[in-house]
Amino acid sequence: MTAKAISFSGVRLVLGGSEIYRDVSFDVGEGEFVCLLGPSGCGKSTALRLIGDLLPIQAGAISVGGASPRDAWDQTAFVFQSPRLLPWKTTLENAGFGIEMRKPAVPKAERLARAERELAHVGLGADGHKMPVMLSGGERQRVSIARALALDPRIILMDEPFSALDHTTRARLRRQIVELWQETGKTVLFVTHDIDEALYLADRIVVFSRKPTTVSEVVEVRAPRPRDTEADPALQQLRAHLIEVFERLEGAPDAPEEAEKALAATCN
Ligand SMILES: Nc1ncnc2c1ncn2[C@@H]1O[C@H](COP(=O)(O)OP(=O)(O)OP(=O)(O)O)[C@@H](O)[C@H]1O
Ligand SMILES: [Mg+2]
Repeated sequence: MTAKAISFSGVRLVLGGSEIYRDVSFDVGEGEFVCLLGPSGCGKSTALRLIGDLLPIQAGAISVGGASPRDAWDQTAFVFQSPRLLPWKTTLENAGFGIEMRKPAVPKAERLARAERELAHVGLGADGHKMPVMLSGGERQRVSIARALALDPRIILMDEPFSALDHTTRARLRRQIVELWQETGKTVLFVTHDIDEALYLADRIVVFSRKPTTVSEVVEVRAPRPRDTEADPALQQLRAHLIEVFERLEGAPDAPEEAEKALAATCN
């Protein structure tokens, strides 16, 4: 593997008295596209929050570009499931809002120029003047991708960014994100619980177990891009394997103390 953009080593985590991570270790190479796959509640979003320094590390080590998440805050940018646009700002201002918040020293003219360039990059070059309400769901999500790109981070952290979109829009945005990744050479860590999405996108898929979480396995996807997950026999084979892994994970009960806690929460 090339240089490491992200590394988790023996990360353990307890939140609200419950053990979330037992021992999580994985790496993301520089320029790599890695998907984080796992059952609901296993701590996928939590991994992104730890990397982005939105949650403190308790035990084990996390390095982002060789530094601690605290020192690497300007190397990462987020794209969330919901685009989180400000309805009173134009598309262009929204695309520049990440810079406005995180790099206030950047002059306004430069901020808007960068926002404009990235809007063009995601195919919205002519829409900068529009208010978010005038955009479709897919277009809004593309604005949030432009907002992340405008920060020019080395690493883009994406948390189920397409899961709220319809099937056709999702397929189109997947294609576009692969093209953007190929053009920009950014490192992408992309959270999903959709096996087909991971197979379409990833160089490698890191599968999380159920809580208390460990890395259940890491799957390499070598198929050339653009991929046809339906037609490629190697991808179909990987798909069958991942479905099996998932069935095993979904079927495995949580640790007894977890199960008791979950049940107790519904019995009050
Ligand atoms: N601040 C907190 N206090 C207590 N528990 C928390 C906190 N934040 C997250 N958790 C718990 O940590 C676990 C992991 O949460 P996380 O949101 O990372 O899961 P996820 O894998 O992203 O799930 P999903 O696929 O449903 O989005 C969950 O059980 C959640 O309830
Ligand atoms: Mg999540």
